[in-house]
Amino acid sequence: MASQVLVAANRGPLSYTLAADGTLGARRGGGGLVSGLSAALAEQPDALWICAALSEGDREAVRRGESEPGVRMLAVDPAVYEDAYNGIANSVLWFLHHGLWNTPREPVFDAEFRRRWDSYRTYNRTFAEALAAEAADGAAVLVQDYHLALVPGMLRELRPDLRIAHFTHTPWASADDLRRLPGDVREELLWGMLGADELGFHTWGWASAFVAGAHVDGEGGTAQGLWPSGDPWRGVRHRRWGGPERRTRVAAYPLGVDGEELRALAHRPEVEDRLAALRAEVGDCRTIVRVDRTELSKNIVRGLLAYRELLTAHPEWRGRVVHLASAYPSRQDLEVYRDYTEAVSALAERINAEFGTEAWTPVLISVKDDFARSLAAYRMADVALINPLRDGMNLVAKEIPVVSEQGCALVLSTGAGAYEELREDALGVNPYDVSETAEALHRALAMPAGERADRTKRLAAAATALPPTTWLTAQLTPLLQR
Ligand code: F6P
Repeated sequence: MASQVLVAANRGPLSYTLAADGTLGARRGGGGLVSGLSAALAEQPDALWICAALSEGDREAVRRGESEPGVRMLAVDPAVYEDAYNGIANSVLWFLHHGLWNTPREPVFDAEFRRRWDSYRTYNRTFAEALAAEAADGAAVLVQDYHLALVPGMLRELRPDLRIAHFTHTPWASADDLRRLPGDVREELLWGMLGADELGFHTWGWASAFVAGAHVDGEGGTAQGLWPSGDPWRGVRHRRWGGPERRTRVAAYPLGVDGEELRALAHRPEVEDRLAALRAEVGDCRTIVRVDRTELSKNIVRGLLAYRELLTAHPEWRGRVVHLASAYPSRQDLEVYRDYTEAVSALAERINAEFGTEAWTPVLISVKDDFARSLAAYRMADVALINPLRDGMNLVAKEIPVVSEQGCALVLSTGAGAYEELREDALGVNPYDVSETAEALHRALAMPAGERADRTKRLAAAATALPPTTWLTAQLTPLLQR
């Protein structure tokens, strides 16, 4: 049966592992996008989620025809997938949008890049064709993220009847940064996105960056971004040669958290176990909590340097604070990520060696995916440290104030999307400024309890303003009205 609402995302709600005896085990996929979408789609029982088979286990599940209702996994050729996911999405588009390039050496757009870009195209086309085959007449299609930036344009050509939206979960590069891409690739990327009727971003800042960079005056057609003051319609007017003029609306939908659900999760028995163990380790000390993937843009190394500077500049905190850091491994297929993960662990060890005593370990770091430990740490947080260089949203900045038991002071990078909504009650920091971050940690630790509680209340209210279900409906409504 054809579907009325379809979602396309690289990652699906489940991932499969293949045991030595040939049995398949299923486990919930990771990441902010997956948790947000899973919750929201639970309310749309007829929806179909199309995702890629990411691992050998996933591909085996496709071969055996095993899947959850409402999910279709695409078994893309592993070599094509590797080029598209690691070679382009994670190494080029992610770096571009997060400003991660070390520009004297990278990026290098050579023949190898072109080969990978071809794979990225093939991977996007596989999704577009699957969506075209599964969508009912006039169905709504919600395409997710930078992995699938070409899908809206491809799908529009295959199925002009569909209503297509694309949501970007990352930041969007400035107009100047976008011009680092080869000209034809930049245009292909923009035409891919402009195949959508609606483009969503987590913040107005990222949305306006897209509109500012959406200028094309080339062989394929023309596009012009419009951001009129006083007019709620913002977006891009465009025309492919030979086609009619079209408009793509651009808007911000700042994803929030479901407070009730999160608090329930944070009180499950396995979290209580972790909490008891952590409390025993932390004793009477205050806590500074952070939880991230070991991701370059999360800026974990500078966060640890700031903690070290806090202990140096304000020695009164020695023996009275513990930094609880969860850094769970991510994208370990890429050497630069493996190196970064090692650097994080090594620096935490150095701080412990430098300042630790018999009775006090300054940093308790966990480099593994342990959601129960993270939730236990959230509950204990006196201070939350969220200092990404750039981040589409950063849901951890929203989750910790909702779950912390005593209220927490939030030290938050101005580069996080969440800063747009939380700036009034967070302590904003320039993510590159280690000294400023150290001082903000000191202020956060010293904040009077009443002020901390008041701020936490307002932070939690802002964090839960647009929970996943409402977030999805907010995007579907304008799409279905077209
Ligand atoms: O947009 C960012 C994002 O898709 C997040 O939603 C998610 O946490 C992360 O990237 C996951 O990355 P990956 O799927 O590569 O592990």
